[in-house]
Amino acid sequence: MNFQLTEEHLAVQAAAREFAQTELLPGVIERDEHQKFPAEQIKKMGELGFLGMMVDPKYNGGGMDTISYVLAMEEISKVDASASVVMSVNNSLVCWGLEKYGTEEQKQKYLTRLATGEIIGAFCLSEPEAGSDATSQRTTAEDKGDYYLLNGTKNWITNGSTASVYLVIAQTDPEKKHRGINAFIVERGMEGFQVGLKENKLGIRGSDTHSLMFTDVKVPKENRIGEDGFGFKFAMSTLAGGRIGIAAQALGIASGAFELAVKYSKERKAFGVEIAKHQAIQFKLADMATNIEAARMLCLKAAFHKDTHQDYGMSGAMAKLFASKVAMETTVEAVQVHGGYGFVKEYHVERLMRDAKITQIYEGTSEIQKIVISRELLK
Ligand code: CAA
Repeated sequence: MNFQLTEEHLAVQAAAREFAQTELLPGVIERDEHQKFPAEQIKKMGELGFLGMMVDPKYNGGGMDTISYVLAMEEISKVDASASVVMSVNNSLVCWGLEKYGTEEQKQKYLTRLATGEIIGAFCLSEPEAGSDATSQRTTAEDKGDYYLLNGTKNWITNGSTASVYLVIAQTDPEKKHRGINAFIVERGMEGFQVGLKENKLGIRGSDTHSLMFTDVKVPKENRIGEDGFGFKFAMSTLAGGRIGIAAQALGIASGAFELAVKYSKERKAFGVEIAKHQAIQFKLADMATNIEAARMLCLKAAFHKDTHQDYGMSGAMAKLFASKVAMETTVEAVQVHGGYGFVKEYHVERLMRDAKITQIYEGTSEIQKIVISRELLK
């Protein structure tokens, strides 16, 4: 066993950290306040290769491993989780799903542009009445011969109004239940496709979350991903990797809050000394650091499983379950270390606390992760 990161890993980590500190930090509070999508910053992330990190270079990707992706996600998420969710969805749901299961034509047409960030993608599974219970798809895709007729509504879609390409899951044959579900590539301009209301959220407020409506959208047959009836497996298999990305996001939110707490505790004085000299604060920092390190190990282990072609369903779910809990607990404690200053926006930790919550909800709630883990254990 070797815990040493390679020179390449360290270089990716340093580049992501530099980008986050110089490009994402300025303006992050205002973007959160005004729910402003970090459009310019996302464009630069694309140019630097952060939006298609693991894609094969022959489709314009970075050809990197999942460990590099986890390291970069952590650094970006320390500063701006609204930017890192765009990165996570584009990398691990949209690009990975297309590269793994798309046809060569689909890859040439869409993946080559998604990997550079020229366009970004969205993953559309959740519906008003199908969140955790993802097989209960109400969106229908009627087989009309050379096209499918798509009707329905999707909810809480990340990159809802900023994406150009949407991977949409829909029911074609209800009698076959989840085996009658398909996945489709839907383009922004297709007739009958409408972007609905933007959500006013607790956290990751700079990200762009919308409902989407499909009314008699004609999706060409060549836009179906995989064989007829493969859509649910496509969604589950794609989400298994997505969960590593969200686990790394949670890790970054936690370690970002921790770094701020350490810095503040060395500056702020109370009872005549820096608060870092008080054991009450030291114990908090020790707990935070230990939990974060454990979360980091789980994230890297899941990434290692994926890179070495081992099953990563359970390790990814464990990483997400644990890292998201650590994100929540660490950010609450970081606010506590900051005292009154932690409760105001300028000190960043209140935003990180709000951002942390979503990591226990999207790409499978913590309860869903426990289902995934326990089913694997009891197989
Ligand atoms: N890979 C491939 N196939 C898988 C799989 C995986 N990881 N997990 C399950 N499947 C297959 C099963 O083998 C089964 O297929 P067969 O019946 O043909 O053998 C099929 O999928 C159904 O599986 P289950 O019987 O386990 O289905 P279930 O109804 O019990 O549900 C679940 C399982 C784990 C609860 C699943 O519904 C689930 O993950 N729900 C959560 C959905 C979710 O994560 N939503 C997130 C939305 S996306 C998002 O948040 C993105 C964003 O914008 C940030």
